[in-house]
Amino acid sequence: LELLGGASKVRAIRFGKYEIETWYTAPYPEEYNRRSLLYICEFCLKYMPTEYVNWRHEIKCPMRHPPGDEIYRAGKVSIFEVDGRKNPMYCQNLCLLAKLFLGSKTLYYDVEPFLFYILTETDERGCHFVGYFSKEKQNTSSYNVSCILTLPIHQRKGYGNFLISFSYLLTRTEGKTGTPEKPLSDLGLLSYRNYWKYTLCYVLRDLFLRPGVSEEEINKISIMELSRRTGMTADDVVCGLEALNGLVRDPETGIYAIRADRTLIESQIAHWEAKGYINLEPDKLIWTSMV
Ligand code: COA
Ligand code: NA
Repeated sequence: LELLGGASKVRAIRFGKYEIETWYTAPYPEEYNRRSLLYICEFCLKYMPTEYVNWRHEIKCPMRHPPGDEIYRAGKVSIFEVDGRKNPMYCQNLCLLAKLFLGSKTLYYDVEPFLFYILTETDERGCHFVGYFSKEKQNTSSYNVSCILTLPIHQRKGYGNFLISFSYLLTRTEGKTGTPEKPLSDLGLLSYRNYWKYTLCYVLRDLFLRPGVSEEEINKISIMELSRRTGMTADDVVCGLEALNGLVRDPETGIYAIRADRTLIESQIAHWEAKGYINLEPDKLIWTSMV
């Protein structure tokens, strides 16, 4: 029945030492899509139909890390910037891999206009793929992330949050503000809402809850100022503030004021930090914008 309907049978991928169940179908060539298990090289992302082909490939594949430039390294964690124009095969294979976990339709062959930021974890065998995000080189809109993925085997450990932080670090380095491309998936929205909320927690703590902060300084804080400091668009700042009861409307004038609920902010930060997720170290970025 599946064959008649043309539906894909790919149920899982073999990726390095893992077998990962897939969530959606991807437009692999038909002879690959007919298989229930696809083999994908964890270094060059080439897809293969059988264990034998995969074994032959492993012997000769020279790659031990993504192509492109390593633009961030802190301990075992690195980020590589890969240009879709310079490494089209790698990037097309990456988009196909990502599609296995993305319900929405995206482009797979036209990778040229994008940069890809690959998050890896290093051990003695090489830099292992954890997740990535893509970004348009020339964005006339304010989008700073096109697609974002953490492989399911690495999800809910803070890597998505790390990738999001990194995307905003690039945006601030460019002197801009940015927002992820819409529509976001459910998981994308949950992750961004979480990021916006915690980012506002830290900024509000620094601005409002400093010992000795004056009334005058507090009155100067605006949504624009929060946007400038975080690299988030004004809309996303408002979203983060709302999650912290950080906007209060004066019933007479209708004007909104920003406020910081100390107890709420401090308990949120304590809750987040107790998870012990990796933190981005902005000074470890070696990068200048290409535009
Ligand atoms: N359920 C509930 N909350 C979730 C969640 C889930 N499945 N995934 C993320 N969140 C929220 C949680 O608050 C989480 O913190 P917690 O795990 O401590 O509760 C927080 O976001 C950060 O999660 P994190 O571990 O940093 O995210 P991740 O590494 O799992 O990656 C995505 C998040 C969106 C990248 C990942 O789910 C993914 O790749 N999904 C498939 C592709 C996709 O939909 N991409 C977005 C659209 S382009
Ligand atoms: Na978790």
